[in-house]
Amino acid sequence: MTTKEKVLKVLEENRGRCISGAELAADLGVSRTAVWKSISSLIDDGVEIKSLAGSGYILPKDANALTVQGIAKYLKSDGLDIKIFKEVDSTNNVAKSLAAGGAKEGTVVFALSQNGGKGRLGRKFYSPSDVGVYMTLILRPGAQQTPYLTVLAAIAVADGIEKAGGKRTAIKWVNDVYADGKKCCGILTEAVADLETGGVEYAVVGIGINVTEPKGGFAPEIKDVATSVCDGVEDARNKVAACVLDEFFKRYRSFDKESVAAAYRAKSFLIGKQVTVVKADSMLPATVLDIDGDCHLVVRYEDGTQQTLLAGEVTLRTLRV
Ligand code: BTN
Repeated sequence: MTTKEKVLKVLEENRGRCISGAELAADLGVSRTAVWKSISSLIDDGVEIKSLAGSGYILPKDANALTVQGIAKYLKSDGLDIKIFKEVDSTNNVAKSLAAGGAKEGTVVFALSQNGGKGRLGRKFYSPSDVGVYMTLILRPGAQQTPYLTVLAAIAVADGIEKAGGKRTAIKWVNDVYADGKKCCGILTEAVADLETGGVEYAVVGIGINVTEPKGGFAPEIKDVATSVCDGVEDARNKVAACVLDEFFKRYRSFDKESVAAAYRAKSFLIGKQVTVVKADSMLPATVLDIDGDCHLVVRYEDGTQQTLLAGEVTLRTLRV
């Protein structure tokens, strides 16, 4: 661990308490100048450390910084390698290049903001700083888990937000998480095939969560359809990040298709709803009958025919969650 990381660890573990430069230096066995340099660099990184003249340094209880040390306070899963960048185009892009270079499963790439956040179907994902968790998990899944990565992520987000003290959530098939009838999270999974084995060489699962509402509200183009989930929760971004990772890796590492399908179905709100099934060349009204044991959506069209949808897009015709 670098001195900077050690300084932040001590401040995180003592949130809300002022610690003098001398105490930090003695605890860590470094000079006061080294402590001061670390503090300056952390402040440059956006960590809200306050310097109290004559007394020392404090990371306030309500600080909102997302840091490796902050996530580690809540994280239970072993073996994760967490990397946090200040700003990237897309954490999925960074994760793909790290994975192509051999990064191990369990590497998790976070960014405090993204200037090219990607959504499904070529859409943009709005990723302002300070208010969201934008992260991408690098995985090297077996054949069993591969079709379920997005489903596992949706369950982990829905359960993780609640465990972090946030709002009640529900899943809209296939990979959106909702709260109060509005979207609070999107998931984008990308994979690179291994042509020799016919499996997947690596997959990246990108998760974007609106943790708190941006100052001034959501951007006009999404304000009617987007919501945040942890306004007023202390240290919300670190808690949400850790809880979602724990929920994901718990189910991923001891994968059991039946229990995954049961958890997904229990959290899904589309069953019984009137939807429009959106395809490349048609938009058909339908009723959702079920989510089956493979987490596929079973719909009945107005002419009475039934179809099982493996992937795709449905929109709600009446939004009552
Ligand atoms: C969607 O709702 O269409 C999917 C949105 C996925 C957004 C996340 S944020 C972290 C990761 N990086 C990206 O560029 N996209 C995903």
